[in-house]
Amino acid sequence: MRTQIGIIGAGPAGLFLSHLLHREGIESVVLESHTREYIESRVRAGVLEQGTTDLMMATGVGERMRREGLVHEGVEIRFGEGRHLRIDFKALTGRGIVVYAQQEVIKDLVAARMAAGGEIVFGAEAVAVEDVEGEKPRIRYRKDGVEHSIECDFIAGCDGFHGVARASVPEKVLAIYERVYPFGWLGILAQTRPASEELIYANHERGFALMSMRSPEVSRLYVQCSPEENLAEWPDARIWEELHLRLGLGERLKEGPVLQKNVAPMRSFVAEPMRFGKLFLAGDAAHIVPATGAKGLNMAVTDVRVLAKGLKEFYSKGRTDLLDRYSEICLRHCWKVQRFSWWMTSVLHRFPEDNAFDRRRQLAELDYLAGSRAAQQSLAENYVGLGVDGLDADGLDV
Ligand code: APR
Ligand code: PHB
Repeated sequence: MRTQIGIIGAGPAGLFLSHLLHREGIESVVLESHTREYIESRVRAGVLEQGTTDLMMATGVGERMRREGLVHEGVEIRFGEGRHLRIDFKALTGRGIVVYAQQEVIKDLVAARMAAGGEIVFGAEAVAVEDVEGEKPRIRYRKDGVEHSIECDFIAGCDGFHGVARASVPEKVLAIYERVYPFGWLGILAQTRPASEELIYANHERGFALMSMRSPEVSRLYVQCSPEENLAEWPDARIWEELHLRLGLGERLKEGPVLQKNVAPMRSFVAEPMRFGKLFLAGDAAHIVPATGAKGLNMAVTDVRVLAKGLKEFYSKGRTDLLDRYSEICLRHCWKVQRFSWWMTSVLHRFPEDNAFDRRRQLAELDYLAGSRAAQQSLAENYVGLGVDGLDADGLDV
């Protein structure tokens, strides 16, 4: 088999890339190790930056998101003894976010690719990428026990943190920057009306908590836990008790049947550069952020916007300058998002190594945020999404 762009992974990065390339008349094949049902039901985050929703609308995959997504113009932060503040995104930036589950974005993208005759090979596990520095880059993959190979002009490694693409780059080429946090998030999906119209982040003595949602009837709630927490030790009643204590919402937080429960570790990670020969890494394959602020999907979308535009310039004008700057442009943006995700995480969680000074400093930081428009504006502009230097200047023409 042969294609122009071989894409490994049908997460947000791989599917969005394939969709954007199709719009430019560039052909691609997406290889995905799991089934369609699996990727369409995997519970992940659910906050879309305005840049992401604008792109979905502009490229024809935003209609259901426009109807079903929940537009939010701010978030609430609770801390100390009963203090709370609201960050008013709309007033501070003129922009907002949309709460729409990642698996819904996946469903919309898969449907669009299928309708356009796009090729997504499910149950196809990439096992190696070869000759990315040579003339015939190819992906070797296994499907139903049989090995196949696909030859391409370029390969996009959109295969997540544990994929094969980054692992195939020689170790001496990659610089790894990493921080593993001493806690995780225990998340539940519950059949209950969200306690508030907007997200609520809480910094509490007992640890972080978050009230988010998926729809007017389904809440998504999290509590800080240990990174290797045993779910068996968290019966539903214990989770609700912690949520009540940490969120302090009283009667507003209504309990309901727990539909799903999971523990996610928290990590900051960047691999540089994001390009090796004709292999481009995008999304979680190149970088991971802790969940606070929900930047993972949005950053993956930024990467593939840059990549799609670079490939468009290459195929339409024979120019390689944008492709040559892919890694530099994405990393510059990525590091700013890393900084913000790290900051949100450090200001809202309890760190086991923190002493009484650190705790007071953390509360002072939130007190400062509560009283400073400048501090709120900084949070707001990062939360709704930063522009991409080197890309946005010439508009969203992908
Ligand atoms: N062969 C084929 N597919 C693979 C392989 C492989 N060897 N390894 C991984 N995959 C697939 C996974 O099954 C998954 O569907 O690649 C996909 C990677 O998707 P994501 O992990 O969602 O990564 P990405 O598209 O970069 O999106 C990043 O989505 O996963 C969230 O938290 C993440 O929000 C972040 C965003
Ligand atoms: C979510 O709804 O899953 C979510 C929301 C906000 C975050 C992280 C996750 O910061």
